[in-house]
Amino acid sequence: MSKQEDTKFIKTFIGVIIALIVLTVALIVLATRTGSPTESELQARQALDRERAEERLQPVGAVRLSGEPMPEIAQAQPEPAAAAGTQTPEQVVQSVCASCHDTGLLGAPTRGDKAAWEARLTSKGLDTLVSSAINGFGAMPPRGGASISDDEVRETVLFMLREAGLEVE
Ligand code: HEC
Repeated sequence: MSKQEDTKFIKTFIGVIIALIVLTVALIVLATRTGSPTESELQARQALDRERAEERLQPVGAVRLSGEPMPEIAQAQPEPAAAAGTQTPEQVVQSVCASCHDTGLLGAPTRGDKAAWEARLTSKGLDTLVSSAINGFGAMPPRGGASISDDEVRETVLFMLREAGLEVE
């Protein structure tokens, strides 16, 4: 190796070493800044751990001696059933009749199928269709299986006929 090459090698070598030192220092600084949690973070974490442990250690039940007041328990309040007569025909169709009449399940005339509804209407008349819906007909359960009044059934039948494009009073 010539002297020139030696100098070049040493210069490069020193350069690399300096770069490594700078990198090390930078990593140390970075690690101390971000790595370990601060004192207050540690305390918060410990408090949370303690809280969770206490929650887990709570007894699952307690014996109440007779005469002791009832503890307040969140009691499931049953939802008040929708008062009869509050549903619009459209809502009844959606919640009761649609399950069969949307898809034609069990051979039910499909909603909006004008021909199917017209055939029934002209051959039987509105009153018969309504009484079929009230009392049940073939595979159709009385009132579609819902507890709705005769009037509601009638209004719902009218609604279904009208949505199929038929004119009924
Ligand atoms: C469990 C399925 C089912 C439900 C729910 C149901 N239907 Fe039906 N419905 C049928 C079937 C099936 C037929 C056809 C019966 C046949 O022709 O034998 C039918 C037929 C009818 C008819 C024609 C009756 C006739 O005499 O031709 C009307 C009107 C009717 N449904 C109205 C209703 C109304 C209104 C509701 C909702 C309150 C309802 N349906 C809910 C199954 C159902």
